[in-house]
Amino acid sequence: MDKLVQLTRIAFSSTFSFYVKTHSFHWNVEGSDFYEYHKLFEEIYNEVYESIDPFAENVRKLGAYMPTSYHTLSMLTHIEDEDRVPSKDEMVKELIMDSEKILIILKKNYDAAEAEGEHGLSNFLAERMDAHKKHAWFLKASLKRENI
Ligand SMILES: [Fe+2]
Repeated sequence: MDKLVQLTRIAFSSTFSFYVKTHSFHWNVEGSDFYEYHKLFEEIYNEVYESIDPFAENVRKLGAYMPTSYHTLSMLTHIEDEDRVPSKDEMVKELIMDSEKILIILKKNYDAAEAEGEHGLSNFLAERMDAHKKHAWFLKASLKRENI
């Protein structure tokens, strides 16, 4: 299969998994600062969800079909499932690690798009990298403890 198509499908599936995980953390987070994290996760999953449709349409613009099942998505994603309900800090740490993984996947995808002159796709991917960098910043900043 075309390398650029495969990389774009992997980036899409990883983004989709990240969305699902962040939304489930929004539902399941608990603690004294519940509402703050419930809202932070909501802001992130909403932003990521808005990229899902244009992401898929970029695969179609390359002339390829989108995965049609959870099974296929789970074969393509590089983001691991979380089957537990982690603590709030673990949730944040996991999303930071996943954001960093996604940034590497997006950069690989971006380089391949640039190499093939697919500048519409590379622009889209550059915006996605910027968005995930912002999510990683918000998540990291929320973990920082003040020195007392
Ligand atoms: Fe909600």
